[in-house]
This record gives sequence, structure tokens and C-alpha cells, in this order.
Amino acid sequence: MEPLRDALRRPQAALLPLRLLFGATFLYAGLDKLLDPAFLQAAGRGSIGGDLAGYVQVSPIGGLVALFTPLAVPIGLGIALAEVGVGLGALLGLAYRVAALGGALLSTLFFLTASWSVRPFYLGNDLPYAIGWLTLALAGHGGILALDQVLAARSAPRPAQRRASRARPSKRGVRVEVPAADRLLQRRSVLRIAALGLMAVSVGGLSVFVETALGRRVGASQGPGGLPTPDPSSIAVGPASPSPSGLPAPTPLPSLSPVPSASPGPNPSASPGKLIARIADVTQSHPVVFQDPYSSDPGVLLRLSDGRFVAYDTICTHAACTVEFEAASGYLVCPCHGAVFDPARAGKAIDGPTVYPLQPFPIEVDQAGGTIRLANG
Ligand code: FES
Repeated sequence: MEPLRDALRRPQAALLPLRLLFGATFLYAGLDKLLDPAFLQAAGRGSIGGDLAGYVQVSPIGGLVALFTPLAVPIGLGIALAEVGVGLGALLGLAYRVAALGGALLSTLFFLTASWSVRPFYLGNDLPYAIGWLTLALAGHGGILALDQVLAARSAPRPAQRRASRARPSKRGVRVEVPAADRLLQRRSVLRIAALGLMAVSVGGLSVFVETALGRRVGASQGPGGLPTPDPSSIAVGPASPSPSGLPAPTPLPSLSPVPSASPGPNPSASPGKLIARIADVTQSHPVVFQDPYSSDPGVLLRLSDGRFVAYDTICTHAACTVEFEAASGYLVCPCHGAVFDPARAGKAIDGPTVYPLQPFPIEVDQAGGTIRLANG
């Protein structure tokens, strides 16, 4: 085998940082989708079904998306596993060109759906990903840190195989020589793609199994009413703040719901939703932040100038930063790229690189009890 030092002299070595970043990002994105209990659902906040329904409205391939919306869950599962496979293929150099082309294809699909409404277009990240993957596919791995190379070296055709050939008739009756070594290479390519697919399914399945065993998935940790057991420490009072982890949360569902409204009081037939504040604690200049027990997204409860209460998911609909309440203007403002949302107009995006409104949380205001809760269901 060729020493790594020699392999690193090839031009493809310059693409190694890009390859590692893209590979790790796609692997993470795939696992993140598989482990997100809200994602693989036909409908609901943060679900693939909800995402597809949103793309139908804004994407240039909306008609095509609409056709596949009934298959949202298998499509979501397929996308997640494909991302895992693309990530592994790039990192390990296994079926490398096929993996990179898969990455380009997925990124193009995301560009035409999830990123299509990002304005200006250069703030969306899927187009650069598509071009980057295409570059990696065209360049190949160059034999650097590549399982393809190791496998090829181990199973190189013997001299006798190289010489061997089999005659096969063409359409015109002329016999075409197909070298045995070529047939061998084609078969090996198919086997490598199959091995990569198997690896993606195994890694995805294992991660879900471990997560389930640790009890961190919905189902293992559900409380009464199908909601995860509420965490009493999650009620925080104070101004909205950026995400402490600094990591982007899953891209939220573009909202197609009507204007959020506070129902006049609790529904006696339903189990009470999560208590998020006492009425007296919420003023125009003092919103209350909380965590949605279903999606774990951060939310903010506001009192508008006309006395109404409204609550929103504070994940920005552009690229998932956490928006903050700006007391001077009364708007919710994203610190990342400046999106501005108006809480008095259903969370409408009034400035910045997104056209999607913030996702509203239905709430119940109990004037008699002096409490505000998230509405269940
Ligand atoms: S994440 Fe870009 S404007 Fe909010």
C-alpha cells in the first residue's frame, strides 16, 4: 500500500477539509433526524409531514412534493438514512463518488424545497452544499484515506484475470471483447454500494436502539396524555435568550396555521396543559420563556399592547437560531441574520431572510385561576 505521505501530495488532498466537514455534517444530520422523535411523523411541529406540506406552498417542485406527501414518514426515513450513508461514504472513502453524487442530489433537493424561500439566496446553505458535493464527486478521493483503495488493492485482478476476456455478440453481430477485469470491477462497485447501504442502515438502527435503551426517545419517557414528562425546571422567567448550546436546533416547520389565539379558558374535558406562567408575571416588557415539552423547542409568552397573550416557538424559521424579544420595538428579532417577526401579526416575518412566520403555540388563559398553560392537542 502507498504511504499516506505520498497520497497527500495529490491534488485531492486540498479537498480533504471539505470532504471531512461535509461527511461529518451529513452523518450528524441523518442521525439527528433519526433520533428526533418529532421528525418521523406524518404531521405536527417539526415533522417531515409538516415540512412537506409547507414546501408544497413555496417550492418550484411543490406539485411533485404534493404527490409524495402521503408517504412522508418513509420519505423522511429514506432521507435520514441516505444522509447517514452519504456521510459515511465521504468519511470512509467507500463507494466515494456515488456517496458524493448522492450528497449533491440531496442538497439540490433541499435547495429546491427547504432553502427556496431564503432571501437573498446566498444566505441559504443547501446550494453551496450541492456544488461542494459535486466538486468532491468530480475530483474523487485520490486514494487518500479511502476504503475503496484498500479494497481495490486487496482484490486486484491477477495477471491471468487481466488477460482473460469473453467474447459477447453486439447488436450488429460483431463480437465485442469484454475484459474479465472490467466485469470484476463493475461487480465490486455494486458490492461497495451495497456495503455502504448496509452500513448506513446498521449505524442508523444502532443509534436508535441505543437512544431507546437510554430512554431518551418519546415512548420511553412519555408522561400522561402522550406528552413527555414535564421537566419542572424548564419554566424560566426572563427575557428570551440565544440558544445556550449555540448549535442549530432542527429546522422548524413552516407555519401554515391560522393566527395564534389564546382560548378563553381551560377545556374541562382535556387534561391540563403545561403551566407556563401566572398572568400577573407577564407584562408587555417582561415576556416569559419556556420549553415546549413536546418538541423541546424554546418558546416565549408575550402580552401584547391590546392585552392579548400570544406564545411562539422561538426557533427562527430561517436557520434555526433563537429569536429574542426586543422591548423597544415589541418585535422578536433573530440575532443571526436579522430576521424580524411581529408577534401581534401571527408571528409574521416582516424583515430578513425568511418569509415564514414563527410557529405559534396555542395557549389557554385561565382568568379565574390566574394561569396560562400550553393547550394540549
Ligand atoms: S437564523 Fe438567519 S435570520 Fe434567524
